[in-house]
Amino acid sequence: MGMEPETTVRLAVKSDAEAIARIYNEGIDDRVATFETEHRTAAYIAAQLAEKGDRHPTVVAEREGRVVAWAGAGPYRSRPCYAGVAEHSVYVAREARKTGAGRVALDALCRAYEARGFWKIVSRIFPENVASVTLHERGGFRVVGVYHRHGQLDGRWRDCVIVEKLLGVGEPAGLAAG
Ligand SMILES: CC(C)(COP(=O)(O)OP(=O)(O)OC[C@H]1O[C@@H](n2cnc3c(N)ncnc32)[C@H](O)[C@@H]1OP(=O)(O)O)[C@@H](O)C(=O)NCCC(=O)NCCS
Repeated sequence: MGMEPETTVRLAVKSDAEAIARIYNEGIDDRVATFETEHRTAAYIAAQLAEKGDRHPTVVAEREGRVVAWAGAGPYRSRPCYAGVAEHSVYVAREARKTGAGRVALDALCRAYEARGFWKIVSRIFPENVASVTLHERGGFRVVGVYHRHGQLDGRWRDCVIVEKLLGVGEPAGLAAG
């Protein structure tokens, strides 16, 4: 890890769409990350970035001017009571995995959402995805539990591990519901 070039993070912009799509599609092909099986196009990602705007930003991690990882999020549910809960994803380019880029991107995403007043960030992870479960545990996430038979990937039922991280200091119990 000490041999890696410096990793920097920033919010994603439209021109990152192609790199984000490429990295996402590697994760889709690997069949470890998501129920999705269809590749994303850069145009689709660009439209998503625009739609999410500054409320649900995506962050990118760069090394030597190249995007090597991204982390993004969207609303957990549309109900107003869940407005401060985001559901996220994190993807690292194949050649950059296991070199700390995922951790840098995930930490930056948490900071960006905390700064916007979100109180919680959650995700679902296939139990077989040891890299992601480990990344999230190291990044301060808690394993909430396991959804059994949550969906099918390539015709096979899969479980999902739910993870959460509380952001910000929160309010004392009793005030939050007011
Ligand atoms: C999961 C993923 C994002 C992890 O990112 P990464 O940059 O490789 O992870 P990092 O190098 O930051 O490592 C974070 C921690 O996880 C550990 N880790 C990473 N890959 C691992 C693996 N394959 N097996 C075991 N531990 C692993 C690291 O050792 C590190 O722990 P440490 O702090 O104790 O050293 C990356 O593997 C990836 O993009 N996979 C495909 C897409 C995906 O699965 N996304 C998540 C969907 S839920």
